[in-house]
Amino acid sequence: MLDKNEIKSHLEYDGDVIILEETDSTNNVAKSLACRGLKEGTVIIAKRQTQGRGRMGRSFLSSSENGLYMTLFLKPHIPPAECVSITVMCACAVAEAIEKISQQRCYIKWVNDIYIKDKKVCGILTEASLDFSANRLDYAIVGIGVNISDPEGGFDSEIKDIACSVYGKNAPVGVKNRLCAEIINNFMALYHKNADKSYMENYRKRSNIIGKAVDVYRGSEVISGVCTDIDNEANLVVRTENGEIHFNSGDARVRRT
Ligand code: BTN
Repeated sequence: MLDKNEIKSHLEYDGDVIILEETDSTNNVAKSLACRGLKEGTVIIAKRQTQGRGRMGRSFLSSSENGLYMTLFLKPHIPPAECVSITVMCACAVAEAIEKISQQRCYIKWVNDIYIKDKKVCGILTEASLDFSANRLDYAIVGIGVNISDPEGGFDSEIKDIACSVYGKNAPVGVKNRLCAEIINNFMALYHKNADKSYMENYRKRSNIIGKAVDVYRGSEVISGVCTDIDNEANLVVRTENGEIHFNSGDARVRRT
């Protein structure tokens, strides 16, 4: 189903497209090609991954061809502290792309998970290499994994209540190519005007966590409160018994009552 020329025909930006049958992780491939002069805007896509990785050392199920597994290679001129903006722009880009192609409303769970209704349909893993001497990023890679259709026999029992796919059992032909191009087009449009942070409004509107009681897991600590906002630096703002906390990292879970 994946086709380089088909993807390029939808692209509004001039970027290389590399399609692999199988690899351990497209993020790993991007990292290993980074020092060999990989061009900014290159996308690496794999039909299957044997060691798909998620945030916080988790694995990302991608051993079958039911998903779109892609990594965008970037050379952003931003200080390390602003790295989160890449993830946030990507979350907006993916949400808009899935919504346009499938006509289903997409929500964002801080920082980087995309949801349809109350189940996760996509995860994003941003990694970066730092140039310490210049206090800026050497490169950033944005890995995106979208569940396009349900795995054969359905999702495993451990994740079936929390994961979903865009199309369930019937994905339209060629949809991975269109979705891939749409994600890149949306992302690049935001990336090139990053400075104005106007995407934060869209990000907040799509949040499925603002206004809810949450537990934020940070290392061995769990902090409970009510999420009141996400600020322009993409920090999660939580009102707790001890005052307001702005989290710049962590794993937030909505408390089920
Ligand atoms: C998460 O849900 O925590 C993030 C998942 C990111 C998965 C994508 S699939 C393409 C790229 N390659 C990887 O190994 N991970 C990302």
